[in-house]
Amino acid sequence: MSGRVLVVGSVNVDLVVQADRLPQPGETVLGGTFRRFHGGKGGNQAAAAARLGAPVVLVAALGDDEFGGEARAALAHEGIGTDVLVTLEHTATGVALILVDRHGENQIAVAPGANAGLTADHVRSGLGRLGPRSGDAVLVTHEIPTVAATEALRIGRESGASTILNPAPADGLDGSVLALADVLTPNRGELGRLVAADGRRSGRSASAPGDPIRAARRLLEDSDEGPGAATAILVSLGASGAILVERDGAAVEIAAPTVTAVDATGAGDALNGALAAGLAAGLGLEEAARRAVVAASLSVTRAGAREGNPTLAELAAALAESR
Ligand code: RIB
Repeated sequence: MSGRVLVVGSVNVDLVVQADRLPQPGETVLGGTFRRFHGGKGGNQAAAAARLGAPVVLVAALGDDEFGGEARAALAHEGIGTDVLVTLEHTATGVALILVDRHGENQIAVAPGANAGLTADHVRSGLGRLGPRSGDAVLVTHEIPTVAATEALRIGRESGASTILNPAPADGLDGSVLALADVLTPNRGELGRLVAADGRRSGRSASAPGDPIRAARRLLEDSDEGPGAATAILVSLGASGAILVERDGAAVEIAAPTVTAVDATGAGDALNGALAAGLAAGLGLEEAARRAVVAASLSVTRAGAREGNPTLAELAAALAESR
């Protein structure tokens, strides 16, 4: 029987301007088009897993404004369990201002709103009602306060579920948090920041190796510090795919299929949601990671962070084509 994917993270409304190019500081770029999407790393990752057929529940905080009601309805529409979502009074729902250029590259600024009000108590109460167990995957993003993310990972770890930490953004995470994740899923920049912070804490070099395999091995090898507890790091490399580095030092490079990028926003969320769905379905880590890389590639071919997530049928077709 498949386990569930229990996501703890953020929900935003994304206000997106697609323009020819991204502006420089102080510059105005004219001629773009505007669209509004549902977003936030937690909501996007939950949707990514749900579209692949996983039973998914989201623990997150919404504001009591119009955006909050719309966000809740959109999550339910994706088939995501919304029973333990928290609505905070007199609080705005998170908003992301996103610019996307003609190559699909983006710039994002987030006003966290209710996401900043998600507490460890909310997480204890939400996950307490859900009762994570062995076979489930607890997927945590860091667009929420670190104490809430830490509590989610702690509960997941104690329950015997697989714990995945998407350290986005990576700032403010120390070894004690990383130690609670079975799998870390940084992108290259986040990996560099985690290694540098770990080096500063342990008094070793604060400069991270440029090679992501060496950087991930360094984080995993640091067994006296928290990161040593992770069993693997899946480093996402955008159009180049990902690298899976396991605790014994073994590294597998996973190439991504070539696609035409329209909007890279949320590609990491597609990867994380698909990874969690694969683990909850009982796949091994490497197979789940391979599917996640293909799901992330498909996600960039459509506008909108959450909109781009593929369905199970779309992923199956792409996997068949890539064999
Ligand atoms: O990862 C993409 C997401 O980051 C967007 O949906 C936006 O809301 C920000 O949280």
